[in-house]
Formats: sequence, C-alpha cells, structure tokens
Amino acid sequence: MKALILAGGAGTRLRPITHTRAKQLVPVANKPILFYGIEAMVAAGITDIGVIVGDTRDEVMAALADGSAFGATITYIPQDAPLGLAHCVLIAHEFLGDDDFVMFLGDNLLEQDLAAFVAAFQDARSGDAPPAAQILLKQVPDPHRFGIATLDASGNVVALVEKPADPPSDLALVGVYLFTPRVHDAVAAIRPSPRGELEITDAIQWLIDEGDRVRCELLTGWWIDTGKLTPLLEANRLLLERIETTIDGDVDESSTIDGRVHVAEGASVVNSVIRGPVAIGAGARIVDSFIGPFSAIGNRCVVERSEVEHSVVMDDSSIVDIARLEDSLIGSNAVVSRSRQKPRALRLMVGDHCQIDVE
Ligand code: TTP
Repeated sequence: MKALILAGGAGTRLRPITHTRAKQLVPVANKPILFYGIEAMVAAGITDIGVIVGDTRDEVMAALADGSAFGATITYIPQDAPLGLAHCVLIAHEFLGDDDFVMFLGDNLLEQDLAAFVAAFQDARSGDAPPAAQILLKQVPDPHRFGIATLDASGNVVALVEKPADPPSDLALVGVYLFTPRVHDAVAAIRPSPRGELEITDAIQWLIDEGDRVRCELLTGWWIDTGKLTPLLEANRLLLERIETTIDGDVDESSTIDGRVHVAEGASVVNSVIRGPVAIGAGARIVDSFIGPFSAIGNRCVVERSEVEHSVVMDDSSIVDIARLEDSLIGSNAVVSRSRQKPRALRLMVGDHCQIDVE
C-alpha cells in the first residue's frame, strides 16, 4: 500500500498567507498541517509516500526532505498547475504502479488515526465483492458546502454530488480516499468539469457507473479542511487540546502558568500569565503579557506588553503593545505593534513579512 499526499493547489482562500507560503505548511499547535498527514500515514504502516507539489514545491520539499525524519520515503511528483484532485492521480500513475493507495489532501486534519480505515479496506479487498475504492464520510450540518454521497441499503456508495443545492444526504466526503489501481482507468476516462478540473468525485462516479463497488466508512471523530481562517483556528484549538504540560524553556518567578502549556527549549516567559492550552515555540520571548487559551506562538516570536488569545502566530513575528489580539492568524516575520494602548480587540489575518502599526 502506498500513499499519495496532495500538497500543490493554489490556496486562494487563505490569502494573504498563501501568497508567500504553502497552505499545507501553516502551523497548527506549532506543527505544519502537512506533518500531521505524513505522521498519520506512517502510523497506519504506510511509508512509501508520493507528494504532489505545485508552485510551492521548494518550500514543501525543504520541509519534508526525503521523509526519513518521519520514517517514510518520499517521492515528489510536480504538478504544473492545480488541475484537480483526479489530475493528481493521473500524474502519479508511474509512482503508484499497480499498488493500492491512500490519497490524502495535505490541508486536511483528522482526529482519528487511519489504521482502522486501511485495515477495513484491506479486509474488504480479500472478501467477496472486493471494492475498487473506499471513501470516508462524515455527517455534517451544512451539506450544501461539501461533496455529498448517497448510499444504497447495504451501505455502498451509489452517487456523489458536489455542493448540492438540495442535498440528498448529510454525508460529506472527507479528504481521505482508498483506491485500487482501477482508479487509473477512471481518471483517464473522465473529462474536466465546468471549473476546468479533473474531479475525483467524477472519477469515483465513473467507477460506480461502470459497476465497480465503492464502499464507505463513517468517520466519528472530527475532521477539518483547514483551507480557510476559521477552520484553521478550530484545528489549532482541537490539537492544542491534546498537548501535555512540558516546560523546556525558562519561566521566571513573577510569571504564572495555568493549565496545559508547552514552553519549548530556549523560550522565556517573563512577568507574564500563560493560560493553557498554549504552545510557545523554541526561542520565543513572552514579556509582561497574557497568552490565553488556544494560542500557538511560533519559534523565536516576541510578545511584549500584549494579550493574545485563540490565535496562531507564526515563526519570527512580534506582537508589541497590543491590548488584545484574538481569533487571528499572523504570518511569519510580521510585526504588529501600536503606539498607544486602546481597549479594543484586534482580529487580524496578517501575511508573512508584514508590519501593522495601530494608531
Ligand atoms: P483544494 O483546497 O480543493 O484547492 P486549493 O489548494 O487550490 O485551494 P483554494 O480553493 O483555496 O484555492 O485542495 C485540496 C488539497 O489538494 C490541497 O492540499 C491542495 C491539493 N491540490 C493539489 O495538490 N493539486 C490540485 O490540482 C488541487 C485542486 C489541489
């Protein structure tokens, strides 16, 4: 079994952050989103991993290297333009060969590990009526925003429809798919959709129409497509819920650490209150400040005379004299500062290398 992780794409919904970085490398709980996917594959016993890369290939390749840090072997598959999820399968054919594989969207995060889903597929493959594919479904309250599946009485998928105005069910397609080599026939047969992409839903529908069996598994844990600000902060919140207290940096006597807080090596907390769950990156300095629940402060950041809550601050940024920053995503190497204190909260999405001075 191999894995195909999609880390190309445009990331238009996370601009301005994605003007300068791959959206899959935005950190949640101080770790790039993509790392969670790679780790989930390795935990499920899949170490031969192909990664689709686009315009941000240099950055993705620098972050993952040959995969050995994850216990994996990574093969990079360049995609010239984001021509769709099924296009990714098409260009990965040589890498995938005749193997079954898991396809995983590099900006998705799942609570549950994938081993049980992979095992269920492998079991079904050796039973009667082996499936050609398996999809993961999650009940959602707003099905018109997702790819939605219709099932028959025995739980097989009979139809898929993208963002339906009149949803046939509330079962959304999660960004994890298991395929047999039969999918290569499907992606070669389908044509681009009206938005000009080769759609994976069309490829799966093609399999169903050809009489192949497509089984499904229901996801019970959370699943987040991090492509936009609100879900990204939600993912940060859910992953910070899991952290344990570890204080590897320095916390002075006039500071208070409350709840589960990770202070990485070389970080210092001076005359401040940290109320967890919070992660503070290596070499960060928190001075005369309050860091509230669900905040992830990146490596080498400086927070001085400020309050930060429910926010992601990426590496090497400074927050200075900000009365209150909440629900914000601050890029790396950014400076957010104000000359005079005003009792107003700021809600910001700040790109890398920006400077915001609030008067
Ligand atoms: P999407 O979120 O569907 O698309 P996108 O990255 O272009 O983002 P936006 O809509 O904000 O412009 O992509 C899901 C994942 O698959 C994501 O990790 C990017 C990746 N992808 C590719 O690698 N190649 C592609 O052709 C497409 C469409 C997506």
